[in-house]
Amino acid sequence: MSADLEAAARAAQASAYAPYSKFKVGAAVKMDGEIYEGCNVENASYPLSVCAERNAIATAVAAGARHLEEVVVVTDASPPSSPCGACRQVLREFAADPATVTVTAINGKGERRSWTLAQLLPDSFSGAELPCPEPRSGEEK
Ligand code: THU
Repeated sequence: MSADLEAAARAAQASAYAPYSKFKVGAAVKMDGEIYEGCNVENASYPLSVCAERNAIATAVAAGARHLEEVVVVTDASPPSSPCGACRQVLREFAADPATVTVTAINGKGERRSWTLAQLLPDSFSGAELPCPEPRSGEEK
């Protein structure tokens, strides 16, 4: 994991808006060689809250990036907590090969856990099953 990606995720965690859960999350994704970050943004209407990982992906996609290379997630949990199921699926959308995308969870104590996206979301739904012409992860459909 690059120090830059870790620093970006830690900076994002500091911006987290989590007044309801008090669970601040920062995420950084490397896409097309660039680093993008996101934090969780909660809402008084709880289900409208958005996770850090999905906000990082949205920022990257809005900047034109399409190919996911690596993910770092920062929480205060011990052991470091892994991305939720919804975020795993959103990460999968931009992973050409989930076996090559490393997801690392860290916290402020220096603990870390690491997986490939394929380990976190085995036998994933990629869109290749859809009855439209050959959608490829991260490509325009
Ligand atoms: N959260 C994330 O940002 N990422 C995850 O992978 C798990 C959960 C956020 C959502 C909510 O704001 C808070 O953590 C508690 O669930």
